[in-house]
Amino acid sequence: MHSAAMTDPFGRDITYLRVSVTDRCDFRCTYCMAENMTFLPKKDLLSLEELDRLTTVFIEKGVRKLRLTGGEPLVRKNIMHLVRQISRHLDSGALDELTLTTNGSQLARFADELAACGVRRINVSIDTLDPDKFRQITRWGDLSRVMTGLDAAQRAGMSVKLNAVALKGFNDAEIPHLMRWAHGRGMDLTVIETMPMGEIDADRTDQYLPLSRLRADLERDFTLTDIPFRTGGPARYVEVAETGGRLGFITPMTHNFCESCNRVRLTCTGTLYMCLGQEDAADLRAPLRASEGNELVSSAIDEAISRKPKGHDFIIDRRTKRPSVSRHMSVTGG
Ligand code: GTP
Ligand code: 5AD
Ligand code: SF4
Repeated sequence: MHSAAMTDPFGRDITYLRVSVTDRCDFRCTYCMAENMTFLPKKDLLSLEELDRLTTVFIEKGVRKLRLTGGEPLVRKNIMHLVRQISRHLDSGALDELTLTTNGSQLARFADELAACGVRRINVSIDTLDPDKFRQITRWGDLSRVMTGLDAAQRAGMSVKLNAVALKGFNDAEIPHLMRWAHGRGMDLTVIETMPMGEIDADRTDQYLPLSRLRADLERDFTLTDIPFRTGGPARYVEVAETGGRLGFITPMTHNFCESCNRVRLTCTGTLYMCLGQEDAADLRAPLRASEGNELVSSAIDEAISRKPKGHDFIIDRRTKRPSVSRHMSVTGG
């Protein structure tokens, strides 16, 4: 039996669930994490069975698109068990898309199996193609491993979208090269404005680059045409005449896309965040564990959706010393 669709107080239908399966990661990107991070104790995690049960409740309540995130989703032990379980909803037609956002470090191992489970598209984060700079920005990452992962993903038949966080003075000059390279390999690229989430070791004011500026710079060498193409997320795309590829802009800081927000985020402890940019959250673990039936958790979800805020209040400037949101991006995977 399917309950009524989830609609928030602003009339937005919630059809996209992002599930962070672990807050851990094998990289330490400087804009995302401090070098020394305290992760959740393993005992607080939902089991893979509980994650499956909870995501199934969301699908019964109208979710059509599910994205696994982290931290790094592929470092969660036995993650392919969960992917196989969730893929039954693709087979039944209840779910339109199962996908993930990954740093690519483990893709070589998992690409074939992901594709076999019906994952047709993945997002891989790469901020630079220079191996030394890659090591610098990820602190622990190895670009050649990610490249092997990308090859494996494309060989397995998955479409790949690259994500690059635009960082002033770090990769802004390299974006044209990254774009030509991505488009040359048949991959879309999205550039992202850095968001003030969690304490990091660096100062975000030094890193933040408004994408309006990047776009203006790109337009000196490329012909960019806005297109209505959408992937369900906040990216707004242009077609690049010179490369024939698509470039997406994710601009939470300079342009607020919250009015069309269709998503909520579940963490690996069963906490539901109704907005990436707000602290408010709902605990779903207690109602999940309190009963074998799903009525309690289903009403907890309805109650949470009725509190979904209008949007975020991110600020990055010299006077604002603290991040707008205290948790790191890796808690919800973006
Ligand atoms: P698709 O459109 O399905 O390809 O996904 P996506 O671009 O939404 O997802 P991805 O995981 O690749 O995220 C890319 C960036 O968008 C990350 O930096 C996310 O934090 C950011 N993002 C995704 N959803 C939201 C949102 O609701 N609000 C804000 N502010 N940022 C978001
Ligand atoms: N601001 C913007 N994007 C971020 N990401 C991680 N931290 C931040 C941040 N503070 C990106 C990663 C990945 C996606 C899930 O979020 O690079 O592509
Ligand atoms: Fe890990 Fe992604 Fe954060 Fe980098 S951005 S540290 S890859 S979770």
